[in-house]
Amino acid sequence: MNKIDIKDIFENMGNFADKQLVVAGWVKSCRGNGKFGFIDLTDGTCFKTIQIVFIAENLTNFNEIEKLNTGSSIICKGKLFLTPNNKQPFELQAEDIQIISATDSEYPLQKKKHSLEFLREIAYLRPRANLYNAIFRVRSKLAFILHEFFESKGFVHVHTPLLTSSDCEGGSELFRVTTQNIYDEEKKFDPKDELFGKKVYLSPTGQLEGETCAFAFGKIYTFGPSFRAENSNTTRHVNEFWHLEPEVCFMDLNELMILEEEMMKYIMTNILKRCPDEMKFFNEFVDNGLLDRLNNVINSEFGRITYTEAIEILQKNNDKFEYKVEWGSDIQTEHERYLSEVIFKKPVFVTDYPKEIKAFYMKQNEDGKTVRACDLLFPGIGEVTGGSERETDYDKMLSHMNKLGLKEEDYWWYLNLRKFGSVQHSGFGLGFERILMYITGVSNIRDVILFPRTPNNCEF
Ligand code: 4AD
Ligand code: MG
Repeated sequence: MNKIDIKDIFENMGNFADKQLVVAGWVKSCRGNGKFGFIDLTDGTCFKTIQIVFIAENLTNFNEIEKLNTGSSIICKGKLFLTPNNKQPFELQAEDIQIISATDSEYPLQKKKHSLEFLREIAYLRPRANLYNAIFRVRSKLAFILHEFFESKGFVHVHTPLLTSSDCEGGSELFRVTTQNIYDEEKKFDPKDELFGKKVYLSPTGQLEGETCAFAFGKIYTFGPSFRAENSNTTRHVNEFWHLEPEVCFMDLNELMILEEEMMKYIMTNILKRCPDEMKFFNEFVDNGLLDRLNNVINSEFGRITYTEAIEILQKNNDKFEYKVEWGSDIQTEHERYLSEVIFKKPVFVTDYPKEIKAFYMKQNEDGKTVRACDLLFPGIGEVTGGSERETDYDKMLSHMNKLGLKEEDYWWYLNLRKFGSVQHSGFGLGFERILMYITGVSNIRDVILFPRTPNNCEF
């Protein structure tokens, strides 16, 4: 079809002025008075809509057009007129409107305002609602901008497998993948029955496989879904999330944090630049302080604090927390938010965690107690990235693995990387949905991913 994208019209309106053209899309709203009427039409190519003016004497199907409901699909031929004195910079005067599919009153997304809870129940339709339309376009742009950032720095993008036989993150619970009848209670696990000859899971991270390529290309990143089987019903956990994981050779923890901070500022600057309509919408309807907040982050220097220092501060405020902390305890969301919102009032890196509460691959500090880890905490969200310098010493890693009960035979190839040309290297994992929450101001992770996978929720 020889149709023009509404985005192109907005970008080059001078070229289309007084010309005949065809647009096609979905009715946002339609109103008429028996003689003439207006349609707000979206085609999804941009956040803005085009206004179509239709006049009874020009259309044989005027009566049907006038009754069109939100969500109906049409193709419209008409002439574009610039209207510099009106709210809309132009309008399309319809010469012909073809109804492709008219919705009726059953269409759940009528014009009125709906709650986010209701929209989650009709997740298959919600990308058409303004809020989600804006979120998912920003999501698309954000992915592209991240690729652009790493490509511009010479990183190689590696596709790591989603099926794995190792549990890299230790503590995280995994989804088992099997072709066997798991409901047959008589049946015992036997590797001979398994398609892969062993137990296999959906991967919680692409890091270990990514590291193999770091030693080949120097700097790589992975970007894809990761799976966590935990039964946590919070506003920042999903069981399937998108995970970007860079891994860089000859890089220490300090340089890693510099890279992370640069990445964050790059993506925020560019989202503000490239999605102005969507960002304005979020600022108006989701969070009035959003644009100021993002600009502050871009212009601030991220905070840095060690775990030990953080615990000292938190301990003094233990009365404020549900979970009281002491040295050695895990930092929960409430503590992460206290540090970033109340103490620092900006993003902050927490470094050098106790080795007991972090993954086996993290480089041990000389104190024998802590590891070269860094979590980046954002106000309102908590942990957005988790990273570390990696252990390069074969024996230290093996003994740590033994203590954690991880089997050498499951990680032999990963251990071997420490034998064959091993170098200092560091990496982190960015929770794509978490940073998207921060950028859009949306407070529930279920609203920034198309079909959230959370406990008891896999309808679509
Ligand atoms: O801190 P995590 O578990 O670290 C890793 O998986 C490392 N292998 C990363 C690396 O060093 N390459 O996860 C990294 C990030 C977290 O900071 C968080 O933003 C996000 O992934 N994340 C989740 N996001 C949504 N739902 C969940 N259940 C998440 N679990 C982790
Ligand atoms: Mg973490």
